[in-house]
Amino acid sequence: MKKVKKILVINGPNINLLGLREPEIYGAKSYADLLAFIDAVAKEAGAEAECFQSNSEGAIVDKIQQAHGKFDGIVINPAAYTHTSIAIPDALKAVGIPAVEVHLSDISKREAYRRISYTSEACRATIAGKGFEGYGEAVRFLTEAAR
Ligand code: DQA
Repeated sequence: MKKVKKILVINGPNINLLGLREPEIYGAKSYADLLAFIDAVAKEAGAEAECFQSNSEGAIVDKIQQAHGKFDGIVINPAAYTHTSIAIPDALKAVGIPAVEVHLSDISKREAYRRISYTSEACRATIAGKGFEGYGEAVRFLTEAAR
């Protein structure tokens, strides 16, 4: 019997405000809708997803550290910390859990400061500009990779 893969999904600052926040960029669906979407995708992929959201860089680093030995993969949308944090990719590298970076919007086609991602080099893949579906692709990627 195949072991159920455990995937940790981390969302950074302001992702809890989906629906309210710049809907022309991030869509009209809420964070609760995103959680339901991830749950459904994970079940379909034969995985179990735990979702975590924080507006604080340190809390995200703590969560990554605590994932060591407990999760088979990490899906991470570090939000604005993508472009500023070195501690987050350092933590991903430290625990060595396969990770995929996701962005709802296409960060390559927005402001110049969003084109730099410090997170990417600690991730196996980056998926951007596909809305919720990006999380689906990332969960499936990690479920396959972790088998
Ligand atoms: C984002 C893109 C970031 O530049 C931004 O700061 C976010 C969300 C995205 O999902 O498109 O908060 O990560």
